[in-house]
Amino acid sequence: MASLPASLPRYMSHVPPRHTHHLHDLCVFPRNLSLTKQGSVRELRIATSSNQTEPLIDSTDKLSDIPLLSCSEAIEKLKQNRENYKGKQQFLAMYSSIFGGIITDAAAMVIPVDDHMVHRGHGVFDTAAIMDGYLYELDQHLDRIIRSASMAKIVLPFDRETIRRILVKTVSASKCIKGSLRYWISAGPGDFHLSPSGCYQPALYAIVIEDQSLFDSKGIKVVTSSVPIKPPRFASMKSVNYLPNVLSKMEAEEKGAYAAIWLDNDGFIAEGPNMNVAFVTKEKELLMPNFDKILSGCTAKRVLTLAEGLVRDGKLHGIRVDNVSVEEGKRADEMMLIGSGVLVRPVVQWDEQVIGDGKEGPISQMLLNFILEDMKSGPSSVRVPVPY
Ligand SMILES: Cc1ncc(COP(=O)(O)O)c(C=O)c1O
Repeated sequence: MASLPASLPRYMSHVPPRHTHHLHDLCVFPRNLSLTKQGSVRELRIATSSNQTEPLIDSTDKLSDIPLLSCSEAIEKLKQNRENYKGKQQFLAMYSSIFGGIITDAAAMVIPVDDHMVHRGHGVFDTAAIMDGYLYELDQHLDRIIRSASMAKIVLPFDRETIRRILVKTVSASKCIKGSLRYWISAGPGDFHLSPSGCYQPALYAIVIEDQSLFDSKGIKVVTSSVPIKPPRFASMKSVNYLPNVLSKMEAEEKGAYAAIWLDNDGFIAEGPNMNVAFVTKEKELLMPNFDKILSGCTAKRVLTLAEGLVRDGKLHGIRVDNVSVEEGKRADEMMLIGSGVLVRPVVQWDEQVIGDGKEGPISQMLLNFILEDMKSGPSSVRVPVPY
């Protein structure tokens, strides 16, 4: 019997010690490796066997520790897990076309593992904010998920009107007044093949997440992403393939920044991992990168419309959507991140470059106020009432 010391992988170094004992339950180890001591993953031993027809399992294996659960026991575990790991967010309701209805018990908010979205990333999603009992820009986000589904070659599970009705009803059932509605359209469950031909029906899932926090207008720092940007075909659809986005966000956090900014393959400024970017130039022009190689942000598009008021008031001299070089961006008077998650967030530093005078810019603040105002009392084209 050989003994192999094994330390925790680096990506788990942030896992608090009280959680590492659960790794025993979560990790799948090769059959010929066993834990020497229950609750410890710091030392693994390899069992060797001269008879290769025998399973390579040593006698200290605690296979009996892995229970065979009945359906009701598994559901009980799901409930316990929800009780034990309460995060900051509350999930108030979920619609699933698999259930054909809405559930409000977070323990049952699950997605089938054979869904093509889960094991192949063949799904698209979107998010709309809920503000004071209204869904903000629901139709714009709905248009985008339908576009994304078409690009991902996923047939809609229902017609647009039915999807819209289900989404509004899910928010209504949640009784959520402030938060967000996230929803997915996937190729659906069926089998584990690469081709979706065995997926028997596309699926719709939607979840309501409560969020009472206020939008922050404090200036933040960004860095240039070293994680490669997705090619335009994939960056311009909102598929569930967000690994580059996650890695980019992690890179920013590792560098003490809020977000990492992508440049496109020609070196022009593209977008952040879940937000668009915009600038106020020295000539007092609102400047936004072209949307052809990135996600067409619903908030950014709305900002472009609302900013026309600032042009009328003479606070801006113009609005331009164009290629933006890094040099032009870094010497701008103001830089901001724009998206449904951040609304409008001023950037005061990009890499080593201080933006403008290093303080939150007045135009960013005005645009944030415009969006907040729009969410609270904008026209019916951007505010869909939820009948609670
Ligand atoms: C990659 C990316 N860019 C931009 C945005 C901003 O889009 P929106 O304003 O519609 O939230 C998002 C938001 O999810 C995003 O994921």
